[in-house]
Amino acid sequence: MRVPLVAANWKMHGSRSFVASFFEEFSAGFSGTGVEVAVFPPAVYLDQAVQESARGNFANIVAIGAQNVSHKAGGAFTGEVAAQMIADIGCSLVLVGHSERRNLYGESNQLVAAKFMAALESDLIPVLCVGESLDERENGETVSVVGEQLKSVIDAAGLEKVAAAVIAYEPVWAIGTGVTATPEQAQEVHGAIRELLGEPGQKTRILYGGSVKAANADALFSQPDIDGGLVGGASLNAEEFSAICKKAHSS
Ligand code: 13P
Repeated sequence: MRVPLVAANWKMHGSRSFVASFFEEFSAGFSGTGVEVAVFPPAVYLDQAVQESARGNFANIVAIGAQNVSHKAGGAFTGEVAAQMIADIGCSLVLVGHSERRNLYGESNQLVAAKFMAALESDLIPVLCVGESLDERENGETVSVVGEQLKSVIDAAGLEKVAAAVIAYEPVWAIGTGVTATPEQAQEVHGAIRELLGEPGQKTRILYGGSVKAANADALFSQPDIDGGLVGGASLNAEEFSAICKKAHSS
């Protein structure tokens, strides 16, 4: 059985007061059984989020993760944050290979693989993001693009390590556009990812991301290979995010 995971990716949004009020409101609305929750705030608010998430009636239910990590363990790399530092302040997860990092900051499959390895070195759980562009989908390349993205990490880390991580399928054309993949479109790719991971992939949580909201979460999460969501815009509203979390069921 895979325990579903619903994760909030705040991207470059938030402030000290937003972090405080989010956790207060989320804790009031969330009754949390049968689902794991993670929040990925901007790096400067990670420490505060760790503190806030350890309080109240949902202490330790919510895991905190970073949106990015250096592929280097430490040294003269101005502006970078090492996996060990992220772990040191109490985070347990890190996003690697988000399409915004791939497309806006030129992160290659090789760099994503190196970041995945850096996360593992510090005992962080990587959430490996994969997904195709609209052009790639229209050219029928979805499964091969996603397969390549996965393969370069499998080549570096091995199948077992990738299967023990979390995968997030986020079609680029569905991110921040209000256009969600249909549950069937998402299921098709999730099924292909699980097949590619073989037997170890039976335990892998594969999240869907791209315009998830409370209104479409039920239909997406009830697909057999969708084990939760990676939520951007809708996660900035604690009430909406907790409604999405409540839609996740164990499978
Ligand atoms: P939206 O939910 O805003 O489409 O963002 C999805 C995403 O990129 C989460 O990582």
